[in-house]
Amino acid sequence: MPVVIPPADPAGLPAPAWLLQILLVFTFILHIVAMNLLAGGTTIMAIAHWKGKSNPFFAALGARLCKALPVTMSLTITLGIAPLLFVQVLYGQAFYTASILMAWPWLLVVALVLLAYYGLYLVQFRPDWLGRWVTPIAWVSAIFILVVGLLYTHNATLNLAPEKWAQMYAQSAAGLHLNWSEPTLIPRYLHFMVAAFAVTGLGIMLLSLLYRSSDSSWADEAKRFGARLFIGATIVQLAVGLWFLFSLPNSFMQSFIGGNTVHTIILWAGVLLAVLAMLVVNRSALGAVALTILAIALMSVTRHSLRGMYLSPHLDVNAIPVNPQWVVFVIFVVLLVAGLGVVGWMVWQFVRGGQAEAQSTS
Ligand code: HEM
Repeated sequence: MPVVIPPADPAGLPAPAWLLQILLVFTFILHIVAMNLLAGGTTIMAIAHWKGKSNPFFAALGARLCKALPVTMSLTITLGIAPLLFVQVLYGQAFYTASILMAWPWLLVVALVLLAYYGLYLVQFRPDWLGRWVTPIAWVSAIFILVVGLLYTHNATLNLAPEKWAQMYAQSAAGLHLNWSEPTLIPRYLHFMVAAFAVTGLGIMLLSLLYRSSDSSWADEAKRFGARLFIGATIVQLAVGLWFLFSLPNSFMQSFIGGNTVHTIILWAGVLLAVLAMLVVNRSALGAVALTILAIALMSVTRHSLRGMYLSPHLDVNAIPVNPQWVVFVIFVVLLVAGLGVVGWMVWQFVRGGQAEAQSTS
């Protein structure tokens, strides 16, 4: 079957392709850091509620984590919208095709996100009302969030497979396709989810700082637990990352192991930063956070280069005509900066509120 690619939007790109790609990668990094805290945090919160029945450390961890999660959910969604805009504008031909092929599972994302969000609110604000249902509801939210991540990986990998589109559509136009036949699907998904637990480990270390003076023994244990989670998940990640690398088509894999110097340096510098973060995490949580954010940034650049490798035989964003709309673009940048400022302020208020509450309950 021939490869069929829908035509590009005749309106063209509203800004040069290079600028839109930088913004795509930048906003994706923000989304993925928030998503990591959400996916890992919700799962750890569910585990903590369950283990907390017999263990006071986990009982307090569950109660303290669940206060942070609705905010993290809203950050994940808000910070997902910006890369969504750039993906649509740059890679609309691929994004819409993949989204139509998997239309029903893709629409399910909205329902799963909403229900998981409600679940997190109920666990935070109505634990007495939920009674013994707190732990099951926490699990339902965690599972829904993990399924949403999997659906995103189905969509992202289907985006990269133009040679499958026409055949899939000819097979069925019901919008029920997924991308299970893709060999990178599971390692790619696990690569994101294992990272989610590592980043959540760092998040728990930061959370422990709020309780340093009011509940120091819990804070010490939370710090140790967070560091162990980070190190354990990052060790697992070294194996999962290699699995992902070796599941790639051979020519792409080769360009990350010496075939292309820039791609190779960026990927392995990211790995090195993650290893350094493991080495410093017990001495400096903030140092490990900084190294991990840099590693995530380099991995996001690698992910973007990989997209270019898959799509270059069929789609070239640099060939799409540019029809600049600078006024709209400036409005976007101003709103983005203002929005990030508001998010920063929200996180700051959350930290201050948490500190005040920690003091008052001590
Ligand atoms: C709440 C649960 C969510 C989870 C667990 C989640 C998880 C993920 C994961 C794992 C990826 C990477 C997929 C891959 O490359 O294989 C991803 C990418 C992405 N997500 Fe989310 N996401 C969530 C919500 C959202 C929402 C609500 C939006 C939009 C409003 C969004 C927008 C995006 C975009 C635009 C990308 C990248 C697209 C690309 O560069 O190809 N996400 N997400």
